Amino acid sequence: MKAILFDKYGDPSVMYSGETPKPIINNNEVLIKVAAAGINRPDILQRQGGYPPPKGASEILGLEVSGTIVEIGKNIDPKFKDKEVCALVTGGGYAEYVKTTLATVLPIPKEVSIIEAAAIPETFFTVWTNLFDSGLLKKDETLLIHGGASGIGITAALIAQAMGIKYLTTVGSSKKKDFMDNLGSFKTINYQDEDFEEVIKNEIDGVDVILDIVGGEYFQKNINILNKFGRLINIAYLQGPIVKANLLPIMLKRLIVTGSTLRIRSDDEKQKIRDSLQNHIWPLFQKKSIKMVIDKEFSFNDVKKAHEYMENNENIGKLLLKF
Ligand SMILES: NC(=O)c1ccc[n+]([C@@H]2O[C@H](COP(=O)([O-])OP(=O)(O)OC[C@H]3O[C@@H](n4cnc5c(N)ncnc54)[C@H](OP(=O)(O)O)[C@@H]3O)[C@@H](O)[C@H]2O)c1
Repeated sequence: MKAILFDKYGDPSVMYSGETPKPIINNNEVLIKVAAAGINRPDILQRQGGYPPPKGASEILGLEVSGTIVEIGKNIDPKFKDKEVCALVTGGGYAEYVKTTLATVLPIPKEVSIIEAAAIPETFFTVWTNLFDSGLLKKDETLLIHGGASGIGITAALIAQAMGIKYLTTVGSSKKKDFMDNLGSFKTINYQDEDFEEVIKNEIDGVDVILDIVGGEYFQKNINILNKFGRLINIAYLQGPIVKANLLPIMLKRLIVTGSTLRIRSDDEKQKIRDSLQNHIWPLFQKKSIKMVIDKEFSFNDVKKAHEYMENNENIGKLLLKF
């Protein structure tokens, strides 16, 4: 089969389209013929050598796909054969075929095209489990989303908006600010022009939950602006994981500081998130309360351009690779 491969770590030029054996499924797996794969920031880290796949996972990039189930293992209900689905995978999405168990496979919402559906799994699994399982976010609370226009950030915004939760975002350009304002962000702070800690202290007092991908100097500011019993959730450290901080606000305001990664979790854990998504988010697609934000679709052969675009922080929402 065709796949995007690389033989050494490096910049986007290390990737090429090549031939590799088609995955062989076991009794509990299905084989998906890929229509599209979502592109995520972790793919870039993996390509650079900073995010090795977990044991047993494919070395090929790609954490989410949409497509058609073309083969099923002996223990899989035959009703799944020929079904169009989207799936979170532990790797291998940038290829013609990818295998997975059913634990992370979801039907494609009718309101979403088969191509767009490739952009759902990675960010929806991540955002759901972090905001609600760890972050215990409630309807009457206020959420701050850093990296608001990222794939993760926009997913958090879409979910909060559809559930009637007030959210604010930080972004790095006026174009992204305009976009997030139009999407429904209560307040969008362009960190190039304003200090988010000052704006939040002066204009809204504080926030209850923060979803942060930045870390670094944001850490102290985050714990400073959280309300009593607030929760800080870090799912990446784009400004670095090492900080010097005054931790007193954590004690005084009884804050929770947490974080998580998704890829290394067990199938059982992922299946619980999948079920939550199907119960809570799929009805919101049906009601048209959530509409996917896809910035660009790239063809399989343009994968280098797609990675460059993401590395330049140009994307607003998700990027897709089409086969
Ligand atoms: N822990 C998990 O389970 C998990 C799962 C998925 C993704 N992630 C992480 O979540 C992050 C977002 O992923 P994604 O695919 O949504 O990425 P993305 O669409 O590429 O967005 C990342 C955005 O972060 C902002 N940014 C980049 N460098 C920054 C810096 N030094 N300081 C402040 N902002 C910076 C940029 O937006 P601006 O132009 O607005 O600054 C950029 O567009 C990645 O770091 C990824 O590794 C974690």
